[in-house]
Amino acid sequence: MAIRLGDIAPDFTADTTQGPLTFHSWKGSSWAVLFSHPKDFTPVCTTELGRAAQLKPEFEKRNCKIIGLSVDPVDSHRKWEGDIADVTGHAVNFPMIGDPDRAVALLYDMIHPNAAENVTVRSVFVIGPDNKVKLTITYPASTGRNFDEILRVIDSLQLTANYSVATPADWKRGEDVIIVPAVSDEDAKKKFPKGFVAKKPYLRVTPQPDR
Ligand code: BEZ
Repeated sequence: MAIRLGDIAPDFTADTTQGPLTFHSWKGSSWAVLFSHPKDFTPVCTTELGRAAQLKPEFEKRNCKIIGLSVDPVDSHRKWEGDIADVTGHAVNFPMIGDPDRAVALLYDMIHPNAAENVTVRSVFVIGPDNKVKLTITYPASTGRNFDEILRVIDSLQLTANYSVATPADWKRGEDVIIVPAVSDEDAKKKFPKGFVAKKPYLRVTPQPDR
């Protein structure tokens, strides 16, 4: 069954390039990104894994662990990692799940048979400290993901989790945010000491609160 926002991310035990793990205990109370790759030794995936490795420090700054998956076995992932470092200059520095029996891929509905029968699409799940799914994105095999966008969404999700704010279209870290309608003007004055501008009664913007 499809996994929806707000669902508990299903737990699983799997073999990875960094040894066997149980997802919930590996994740602990961090944020996590779980993302799937159609197949080892494929061009787009190679570039994606190098980019994710390069950005790992940015995920860590956000208290977010990252973990990849493809339906090939771990020994194949390990061989492929040499190519990834070679081509991108970034060694894979996070676990890659080996899922040859497709158990995790099926659990997370990562195989879309009308797109490709036996391999996963490019799924992204962002999971919060409460183990609930906060974001899902699905890309086709032919489109490499934008990992800056994934970081941007995590920034937005973390602001929402910590303050009563939402973020507007194309928002980037450092730009003004939106005070959610559930907060009255009176409470907004107390909660947002930098003040706010009401462009409409329902659209009030304030500087990013944690800066
Ligand atoms: C790739 O990573 O390049 C790829 C994987 C599966 C299908 C198409 C492209």
